[in-house]
Amino acid sequence: MKKRYLVTAALPYANGPLHIGHLAGAYLPADIYVRYLRLMGKDVVFVCGSDEHGAAITVKARKEGVTPREIVDKYNAILKDTFEKIGIAFDMYHRTSEPIHHETSQGFFRRLNEKGEFIEETTEQYYDEVANQFLADRYIIGTCPVCSNPDAYGDQCEKCGTTLSPTELISPRSTLSGSTPVKRPTQHWFLRLDQHENWLRQWINTGELEGVALHNPNEWKNHVLGQCNSWLEQGLQPRAMTRDLDWGVDVPQELPGSAGKKLYVWLDAPIGYISATRQWALDHGRDWEPYWKSEDTALIHFIGKDNIVFHCLIFPAILKAHGEYILPVNVPANQFMNLEGRKISTSRNWAVWVHEYCQELPGQEDALRYNMVKNMPEQRDSEFTWKGFQETTNTELVNNLANFVNRVLVLTQKYYEDGCAPQFDAARPFKSGWGVETEGNYAAELRRIREHLLEMGREIERFNFREALRLLMEVSSAGNALLQFNEPWRTVKEDPETVRTVLHLGLQYVAALSVAARPFLPFSAERLRKMLALPPLEDQGDLEAMLAVLEKGEPLLPAGHLLGVAGHLFSRIPDEVIAAQMAKLESADAQNAAAAAAAAPKTINYAPMKDIIQFDDFAKMDIRTGKILTAEKMEKSKKLLKLQVDLGFEQRTILSGIAEHFTPEEVLGRQVVVLANLAPRPMMGVESQGMILMAEDQDGKLSFVSPQEGWPSGFGVR
Ligand code: MF3
Ligand code: ZN
Repeated sequence: MKKRYLVTAALPYANGPLHIGHLAGAYLPADIYVRYLRLMGKDVVFVCGSDEHGAAITVKARKEGVTPREIVDKYNAILKDTFEKIGIAFDMYHRTSEPIHHETSQGFFRRLNEKGEFIEETTEQYYDEVANQFLADRYIIGTCPVCSNPDAYGDQCEKCGTTLSPTELISPRSTLSGSTPVKRPTQHWFLRLDQHENWLRQWINTGELEGVALHNPNEWKNHVLGQCNSWLEQGLQPRAMTRDLDWGVDVPQELPGSAGKKLYVWLDAPIGYISATRQWALDHGRDWEPYWKSEDTALIHFIGKDNIVFHCLIFPAILKAHGEYILPVNVPANQFMNLEGRKISTSRNWAVWVHEYCQELPGQEDALRYNMVKNMPEQRDSEFTWKGFQETTNTELVNNLANFVNRVLVLTQKYYEDGCAPQFDAARPFKSGWGVETEGNYAAELRRIREHLLEMGREIERFNFREALRLLMEVSSAGNALLQFNEPWRTVKEDPETVRTVLHLGLQYVAALSVAARPFLPFSAERLRKMLALPPLEDQGDLEAMLAVLEKGEPLLPAGHLLGVAGHLFSRIPDEVIAAQMAKLESADAQNAAAAAAAAPKTINYAPMKDIIQFDDFAKMDIRTGKILTAEKMEKSKKLLKLQVDLGFEQRTILSGIAEHFTPEEVLGRQVVVLANLAPRPMMGVESQGMILMAEDQDGKLSFVSPQEGWPSGFGVR
C-alpha cells in the first residue's frame, strides 16, 4: 500500500467544451477513484487543468477571428464551470498559460538539455512565404497519399484515419494563405527516445526498473499494454520536442537558436500536472515534492486511448530522463464512447455537450454520471443512446434506488409519529434482503452490506467501475427486497416488533448508501445525508469508519435519531425530454448534410451540342441591342412579364418568360439583346414582337445577356 496518491486527468484543450466521451473516458473514472480514496482516508491530490497551447488553440482562434488568449480564457472558464457542475472534484484545476507552468516546463527543458538528452537537428519544414511563418502540421492541407482525400491534414487524414507527416501530402497548401508552402531548414531539439526504448519495454511489460518492482503489469489493461508494445515494436526514434510556433512556452531564451521556438505538447501539457500540484501546494501551505518524487506515492494517469503512448512511453521517458521523478503505477486508459451508433465528432456537432446537458436537464447530474459509468468504455468502445439513458434512469435510479429510499423514510415517518428511527429488538427474526426469504439476523444483515461494499471498493481499486457500480446497486436492491419480503405495510398492525426491526434496518441500508454512493452519485449522496439528517461527509475516511461500524454489527443510525424530510432522489425522464435530445442530434445531422452538399463539387451536365449550321442559317437572324422601358406582370400568368423594349428606331411589346426569376422593378432600364425578326406570336391575348435572349444554367437559373453599359439600342449583334 502506498502512502499517498497523485491522480491526474488528461488536460483538455481549451478550444471547445466538454462532451460525454471526455467525461466517460477520463474525468469520471478519475473522480470516482479519487472520491473513493478520500472516503477511505487516503492522502490524495487530484489535479487537472486546461491545455492552453499549441496549434489546437491557434487554429480555433483563427476560425473565430479572435486572439488565442481570448479563446483560452473563454473555454477555460466553460470547462472549469462544467467540471464543477457535473461534480468532478479536482483539488486543483490549473492552466498551462500560468507563469508557474512556463517556469516548470522550461525547467524540464533545461535539465534535459544539460543532461544531454537532446540532439539538435536541422530538418526541412514547410514554410508559408505569404504568411511568413513555419506551418504547424494542422495548418497544411493536401491530398492523402492513401485514399486521395483532397483535404487531408498534415498530421492525419480524417477520412481514412492514416497518420501522416506534412511532407507525405500530395500538392500541399497552406491554410493560412492558401499558397503552396516551401521547405525551409529549421533547427529543433529532438529527445533521444531511442535511448529509452529498452528500459521502457522492460518497465511496461514486467513492472521492473533497475531491479526494483514498481508495478504489476497484470493490473494494467490489455489494450494499454497492447498499444505500447505495438509502438515499441516499431522502434522508438528521436522525436522533436520543439516547434516553430507563436503561441506556447518559449524554449529557454538563453539557448542559441531558441528564437521563435516553443515547446511541443509533449514537453508542455503533461508537465502541467506538476505545475498544478505545485500551485495546489502553494495554496494550501503544503509540500508538492513527495507527490512526484517519493516512491511512497502512487501516480495514476486517467486518460482516453488517444493519449496512451503519450502517458505510457513519452512522459515516463521525460520523467526518467529528468532523474528525480517517479513513474506512474498505472495508466487506466479508457476506450471511446460512441453516440447513437456513430463516433462522437466535435466538428460535426455529433455529441452530447455536458454544459448543455446540465442546462437542459437540471438536477439530473447524477443520472448522467450513472449512465456514463454503466456504459463506461473500460475495455472496449461503448455506446450511449438517449433511449438507453431513459430506460436505465427510470428503472435503476427511480424504481430501484429512489423508490427504496422514499419507502423507508415515508413508512418510518408514518408509523412512528416522533419521526425518529424506531427502537427495535436486534434478536427479532425477519426475512433477509439478501436471500430469497431466508431468515435474517440484525448483525449479519449489516455485515452483508459491509462485505458488499468492500467488494465494491476492491473493484474501484482495480478500475472496474462498471462492476463496482453494479455492486453498489445490489445493496439498494437488497434493501428493496428486505421491504418486499417482510411487507411492513401489511404486518404493521399484527407484528409491530418485526416491522420496527425491518424499518430500522432499512434506514441502515439508506445510511450506508449515503456514504458508499458518493463516488458515483455525489449530489444524491448529499441529498441522502440531508434526508437522514446526517452531517455532510468530510471526505476523510468516512467510508472506512462506516465499514468498521458495520463490521461490529452496530447501527449507523441509532434508534431515536430524528430524521429529515423524505424526498425524491431521482425523477423519471419523460419521453419528451428524449425526443427533444434526439431532435437536437438530428438537426446537427441535417446541418452537416447541407454543409457537405454545399461543399461537394457539383457534377455539371452540359446540354449536348446541336447539329452544325451554315453561316447563312445564322445570318437569317436579326439580333439587336435594346433597353427595357417598362415592365409589368401579365395577369393570370405566373411566368410572363410584359415588357416595352426600345430598339432605337422603334419600340416593341415583348412577352418574356422571366417572371419567376425577376420582378418588374428589377428589369426596368436593363440593356438587353433581342431577337428582332422572330415571327410575332399572340400569347394570352397580347402579341409578342420578338424575344429577349437570356443565358440559362443547368439548374434553370436565368441571366440577362447585355451589351456593355451605355451601349446604344437598335444596333446589330453578330
Ligand atoms: N490536451 C491534449 C489532448 O487532449 C493532451 C492531454 S494529456 C496531457 O490530447 F498530458 F497532455 F495533459
Ligand atoms: Zn486518407
